[in-house]
Amino acid sequence: MTKVASNLQIDSVRLWDTIHETAKFGATPKGGVRRLTLGPEDKQVRDWFRKACEATGLEVHVDALGTMFGLRKGRDMSKAPVGLGSHLDTQPTGGKFDGVLGTLAALEVVRTLNEAGIETEAPICIVNWTNEEGSRFAPATMASAAYAGDYTTDYILSRKDAAGVSVGEALDGIGYRGTEPVAQRKLGAFVELHIEQGPLLEAENKTIGVVDRGQGITWYDGTITGFESHAGTTPMPLRRDALTALSEFVLAVERTAKAHGPNAVSTVGEAVIAAPSRNVIPGEVAFTVDVRSPDTETLAAIDKDLQAAAVEIAARRKVAMTLTAIWQKPPTIFNATLVDAVEHAAEAIGYSHRRITSGAGHDACNLANVVPAAMIFVPCKDGISHNELEDATQADCTAGANVLMHTVLALAGVAS
Ligand code: GLV
Ligand code: MN
Ligand code: MN
Repeated sequence: MTKVASNLQIDSVRLWDTIHETAKFGATPKGGVRRLTLGPEDKQVRDWFRKACEATGLEVHVDALGTMFGLRKGRDMSKAPVGLGSHLDTQPTGGKFDGVLGTLAALEVVRTLNEAGIETEAPICIVNWTNEEGSRFAPATMASAAYAGDYTTDYILSRKDAAGVSVGEALDGIGYRGTEPVAQRKLGAFVELHIEQGPLLEAENKTIGVVDRGQGITWYDGTITGFESHAGTTPMPLRRDALTALSEFVLAVERTAKAHGPNAVSTVGEAVIAAPSRNVIPGEVAFTVDVRSPDTETLAAIDKDLQAAAVEIAARRKVAMTLTAIWQKPPTIFNATLVDAVEHAAEAIGYSHRRITSGAGHDACNLANVVPAAMIFVPCKDGISHNELEDATQADCTAGANVLMHTVLALAGVAS
């Protein structure tokens, strides 16, 4: 098998330009991106991506959950394609790099291989997974989870956003409900490039994170039902205030993660009073909890503590409380051979690197259950992500894309 010299590089300026060109779809005044999955801005970026893929000679296929696949033929079409990609949806106040880098770097890899006239043995397939973020529809990473067999397509199609619109309706609304059955397109491996979204690489001045694990995640939905009454006339001892009960619970969530630290984090990211009014004691609140740890046992212990805290607070404050786990993603161990391939690519090109655990959930974590998968991280400024201030350097994005390309070449093989 032919070897490609490790000095083959992607086009850094072209990659950087595409990241900024697509950032205009959903651009926010503060310099971030708001591109909720399956909304109008997601359609714009998808249309752009489809056109760019076709112009690059890729065959574009869309599956029943809107995931986009761009296939580049290999010499041996009996081999399963090597997948590479990420997602183009963002958080409501997201940045320009989360997901975007991995998807556009995949496109850049194909453009570079085309220009260099390199044919791979196995085909390669670039992927834009639907709804990685999970902020409009839960669970997060739903399309790749369905691909991995965690959910049926019908279950995912029936998930609704806060306005009652289902995934199926939203797909039809933007014209991205494809005909290909989910998971019909078999991949031989999957590699995802992503910004780290945390502070470690920057703090240690390392360019490449070789991701060998991903944290487990539990998402909860919760409600508290107290009793609405007059803010001026209800004496303090007689109140059944849902919001003050939630306030206690939020602190219990924080305390619990700290007690199980250092490898545990927890967040109440949404809290809504049902019918808010300045002079009404809140009678009903809904909230979410996000708990993460690399250890299954820690997640189970935190679950036990949170359920106990909910029972105790509800009894003492005479409110009713529900806390339901709506999504459980076990910790991920990435494929050792692929992790080594990423490390070898970084080493061969000459980038500094370290092994790292992913704190965020990623589509590659789902793929890891059904195909050998790996991830490559690059630093982001101050470790900030899920924020419009999210930033990364052109040099680091380029380095990540180069490692992605050489990892994919090693996995797909180069035709002589
Ligand atoms: C996805 O972005 C997550 O980790 O929540
Ligand atoms: Mn992401
Ligand atoms: Mn994200």
